[in-house]
Amino acid sequence: LAPRDLDSVRVVVSAGGTREPLDPVRFLGNRSSGRQGLALARAAAERGATVRVVAAHLEDPAPSHLDVRAVSTAAELETAMAEESADADVVIMAAAVADYRPARIESNKLKKSGGSGMSIDLVQNPDILRGLVTARDAAGSRRLIVGFAAETGDDAHSVVEYGQAKLASKGCDLLVVNEVGAHKTFGTDTNAVTILGKDSGTLAVVTEQAKSQVAHAVLDVVAEQLHRSDPT
Ligand code: C5P
Repeated sequence: LAPRDLDSVRVVVSAGGTREPLDPVRFLGNRSSGRQGLALARAAAERGATVRVVAAHLEDPAPSHLDVRAVSTAAELETAMAEESADADVVIMAAAVADYRPARIESNKLKKSGGSGMSIDLVQNPDILRGLVTARDAAGSRRLIVGFAAETGDDAHSVVEYGQAKLASKGCDLLVVNEVGAHKTFGTDTNAVTILGKDSGTLAVVTEQAKSQVAHAVLDVVAEQLHRSDPT
């Protein structure tokens, strides 16, 4: 049985992948299934939290007991997260946000170029996670903000080293890092993660297991941090 350690805690979770339209029928998307985000939402609800899901595109429908606000683009996700997180205690950014979007959305379907190829101008999307941290700090709130990162290591640096750098640049409290490789993570039912804390290094190493169990491992750390900052 899940511990009831998030009773009356307000949690907002983003899940799924954004889609950035090119024209009325095409978009730039990504392979996020939304499963880890939904698993977090379900697990938080099991532990007593009041949960709101901001869902970009999901591979499986969200369970009907979850309170879901649907979005599509990064811009919509940004607005929804700003609104939904304003009175949240915990914000978890598990969505896969497109870093770029087409500079223009054509109102008619793009025609073939006639063999001369095609290029698309892209503009950068805002970093939503970083924006949520800035807004939290400006409001003087103690809201706990959790980011996700998919990293690959290389000869020079490990996955955790890249994760530490990302945690510092985003300014969030916790970063859940998964190592991505050929067949790992996206669209599967299992995940393996390392949970990093601001100023505290590696807080947990979660070996490969069901996304529901990974979700509870993440929430163990979240609950621990919440109760540490407010022991009452
Ligand atoms: O920089 P990177 O995409 O690796 O960071 C991943 C984390 O940042 C995830 O928590 C993701 O939801 C969030 N993110 C964001 N806005 C973006 C890109 C990523 O909030 N434009």
